[in-house]
Amino acid sequence: MNAPSRFSWLQRIAALALLVSMLGSVGFAVGYATGVSAQFQGLALAIALGGLAVAVVIWGKFLVRQERVIDLREPTSSSWERNDATHALEAGTEQIGRRHLLSRLLGSAFAVFGIAALFTIRSLGQNPYPQLFRTKWTPGARLVRENGQPIHREDLVADEIVTVFPEGFVGAADSQTVLLRLAPGILQPASDRADWSPSDYVAYSKVCTHAGCPVGLYRSAEHQLLCPCHQSMFDVLDRAKPIAGPATRPLPQLPLRIAADGYLRAQSDFHEPIGPGFWERGA
Ligand code: FES
Repeated sequence: MNAPSRFSWLQRIAALALLVSMLGSVGFAVGYATGVSAQFQGLALAIALGGLAVAVVIWGKFLVRQERVIDLREPTSSSWERNDATHALEAGTEQIGRRHLLSRLLGSAFAVFGIAALFTIRSLGQNPYPQLFRTKWTPGARLVRENGQPIHREDLVADEIVTVFPEGFVGAADSQTVLLRLAPGILQPASDRADWSPSDYVAYSKVCTHAGCPVGLYRSAEHQLLCPCHQSMFDVLDRAKPIAGPATRPLPQLPLRIAADGYLRAQSDFHEPIGPGFWERGA
């Protein structure tokens, strides 16, 4: 006889929790869209999730309960028993109505929370890929030293190495490049890079493909570039492929040409992303 009233106040608490949850979701969405403090957004989110949690627990623990009751009765019912049964049936009908209302509230609370959660998609930001594929090197960019001086065909002798940047972008971290001049005829370029190394000049990205340190050491006897951070070694005569150490990707090569005035220029940007894999880079 007491069950209906007990269910009733539990239903009220669940309904109240769902309404509070919806308010929390709306507050979170508005706070996120208008950029109010993170504390406010966190509080609103906690209220939204807390309200849902309270309602779901009440619903699962107390309201969705299936009982099987066997009532042994006399073959014939007395009039007071029939009245009792009628009241119970009416109370049950009322319960069903309340549960439908609660179901709708629960669905609405989840829907409002889902809509509020969609606002956070904005935080995913821009696609990072175009930036990661480009450096400051452009077709025709002159190679210059760290002091801005351009490199002429006659400037370097065999086995000499120098750090270069695209003219106008000295110091650009993603564009730092090592330029080497090899002994005549020692480099046998692959067919797809046949014209990338005029007059025995060859250029590779200086950013190590392991963790981004500058690859600044050159072992001229072995024609290897060495990264001092973790001792990765790259074969200058074979596309700067890693031959030792933790690096797994070759250093990207910069296609070069020598202009009519004798100065070295880039044919294009690097053809591959420089540095470590995307997933290993800092922001
Ligand atoms: S950063 Fe070059 S080997 Fe680790």
